[in-house]
Amino acid sequence: MSQPADVRIVEVGPRDGLQNEKTIIPAADKIELIDRLSATGLRSIEATSFVSPKWVPQLADAAEVFTGIHRREGVSYPVLVPNLQGYERARAVGATEVAVFSAASEAFNRKNINASIDESIERFLPVLERARADGVKVRGYVSTVLGCPYQGEVPVADVVRVASRMHALGCYEVSLGDTIGIGTPAKARAMLRAVASEVPMAALAVHFHDTRGQALANLLACLEEGVAVVDAAVSGTGGCPYAPGASGNVATEDVVYMLEGMGIHTGVDLARLVETGRWLASRLGRVSGSKVTLAAT
Ligand code: HMG
Ligand code: MG
Repeated sequence: MSQPADVRIVEVGPRDGLQNEKTIIPAADKIELIDRLSATGLRSIEATSFVSPKWVPQLADAAEVFTGIHRREGVSYPVLVPNLQGYERARAVGATEVAVFSAASEAFNRKNINASIDESIERFLPVLERARADGVKVRGYVSTVLGCPYQGEVPVADVVRVASRMHALGCYEVSLGDTIGIGTPAKARAMLRAVASEVPMAALAVHFHDTRGQALANLLACLEEGVAVVDAAVSGTGGCPYAPGASGNVATEDVVYMLEGMGIHTGVDLARLVETGRWLASRLGRVSGSKVTLAAT
């Protein structure tokens, strides 16, 4: 299949990017980050997560952040929810899109959400039911699609099973996550192809962490398979607190640079995005994780 003409980027920096930060970031900075991202042309910005604050203290301010942002017309602001309690907290502050998450590996799921794969899906059922009644869109994530920090190899058949279950249950889009950045392009391509045999490609997204420097290469392989939705985090921030060794997501700046260079439209203003990534890096007191930003410095 040939590459898509247009790619929608799901910016996960405010959620995946910040959830693993050890020092608590003020809510005002999180709000400013999202507002700056909203002005770059991004169409989807995952704003925060309504998980247990005991499990992810960094995002305990989810309600304050969500109510503080200026929601721009035409931009969606999904939030992560692990259960009905999270869904209710998200709805109480007006969220209109949520994301549920599970994994292709039992071992990772147990560490991340204290549940088996089947139990995690059981927990989504009331979320999906309520979301349908409320007219709320639900995105789904499948983690550890190319390998697990606890179990090692993850059979592709397990990825296909969990992804197709999520889609069948009503997730409009399923994002396939290489949580620990362990995959390589041929493996990523084969995994996506297998999932796309059960779930329409238009309902799939890819989510690469760049732990081993493979994220852009993996992404390119998946674009060639026809995927048209890509998760990325500004300044290459990110990682899951329950996935040892997981480092940042692929940097949104680098994804936009690559896509636009290939003639694929993203609608994102790269200069504004680079500026936002620089601002975030300075707030976090570190060098940007985006190569494009470093080159422009
Ligand atoms: P548990 O301890 O098994 O759950 O955690 P519980 O139901 O026994 O609840 C324990 C306490 O948490 C209770 O409070 C609940 O009320 C509270 P207590 O009675 O002790 O005071 N609680 C909540 N509070 C607020 N909001 C909620 C909520 N739920 C329960 N929604 C649970 C189970 C799922 C809650 C927990 O394991 C959890 O929150 N895990 C989240 C872990 C996480 O956020 N990981 C990172 C996101 S996933 C990721 O990064 C991967 C991804 O990027 C894709 C990829 O890269 O592959 C998406
Ligand atoms: Mg992630």
